[in-house]
Amino acid sequence: MGNYKNFDSALIHGGISSDPYTGSVNVPIYQTSTFQQRVPGDYKYEYSRTKNPTREALEALITELDGGTHGFAFASGMAAITAVLSLFSQGDKILISNNVYGGTYRVLDKVFNHFGLTYRMVDTSDLTAVEEAITEDVKAVLVESPANPLLTITDLKGVGEIAHRHNLLYIVDNTFMSPYLQKPLELGADVVIYSATKYLGGHSDLVAGLVSVKDDKLAERIAFIQNSTGGVQQPFDSFLLIRGIKTLAVRMERHIENATAVAKHLQEHPAVKKVYFPGLPTAQGYEIQKAQAKGPGAMISFELEEGHDTNKFFESLQMIQLAESLGGVESLVCHPASMTHAAIPYETRQKVGITDGLIRFSVGIENIDDILQDLDLAIKESGK
Ligand SMILES: Cc1ncc(COP(=O)(O)O)c(C=O)c1O
Repeated sequence: MGNYKNFDSALIHGGISSDPYTGSVNVPIYQTSTFQQRVPGDYKYEYSRTKNPTREALEALITELDGGTHGFAFASGMAAITAVLSLFSQGDKILISNNVYGGTYRVLDKVFNHFGLTYRMVDTSDLTAVEEAITEDVKAVLVESPANPLLTITDLKGVGEIAHRHNLLYIVDNTFMSPYLQKPLELGADVVIYSATKYLGGHSDLVAGLVSVKDDKLAERIAFIQNSTGGVQQPFDSFLLIRGIKTLAVRMERHIENATAVAKHLQEHPAVKKVYFPGLPTAQGYEIQKAQAKGPGAMISFELEEGHDTNKFFESLQMIQLAESLGGVESLVCHPASMTHAAIPYETRQKVGITDGLIRFSVGIENIDDILQDLDLAIKESGK
């Protein structure tokens, strides 16, 4: 760690932030698969799946930003989740938030089920429901807060206390917040996961996953899985991600400023039925979010009033783009029921509130007037 005290400096100088060999102020892209050994076994780096200097710099950076002891970089958020789920054995069960990212649900429901790892969805915003769902075979709790796409807030400390009382591994997917806004390891989590494709990368130009932990034994097991299963992040994308992370603080502040303005605007709009945004005082979990995170983030979901056609809304947008993903500098909207959460069966979607009219909005950092103008025009067209 360098000579600085604040998180926004750590974003720029954290981890391994320069190159001792050349003095380069940026970590070079060590685009190599293997490394020369002087005699067998005498090496600093052996093979890039096991360890690569560019990935190592990224892993050191996320370790520092999360306040952990070890970090791991993967080729995608799903590769990170897969590695963490590989910690479990046949017969184990995992409790998951009932509106986790569709891909997390899918990998458990369609891949890990082949190996006898089961899951149960639970409303983690209800601590009693979490406690009641714990049976002898439950070995872990995996929580997203805010959870995708209804921005449901879970009391992270509260779940942590329950998890540890029952000796469960406590995993938090912190994708929507980033370490700038929320530090799950400080709130009791054992493992933090990111789709770094989103806010950490910040420019919609790479796919990446990160994991951080604060326990040496657990780190050893994840390192073993990372090397054995091989879903590692590549040197070039590690470099891009380090570059993206440098501006996380300034991006996040602008994201929040814009999202807060959009949420208020939508709430007052006569054609909007419902708005979900953790920064609105009327939002579920508003006080908890204020206590456990530095800000509400910049994800909003909303529903238009009856008589408005969501496809017409999407079609009529001129600047805001309809696309999967979130957390980039550009504003993106998506239709969770047919896109991000299509893997979740219709009945389950209805039960948890992911209606067919729900629109998810990742508010970008463009000029707010342009964002509002585009939204208003598309809302108007959707009602024609
Ligand atoms: C909350 C959350 N977790 C995990 C993932 C998966 O990450 P990736 O797409 O980088 O594999 C996503 C992707 O949208 C996500 O939103």
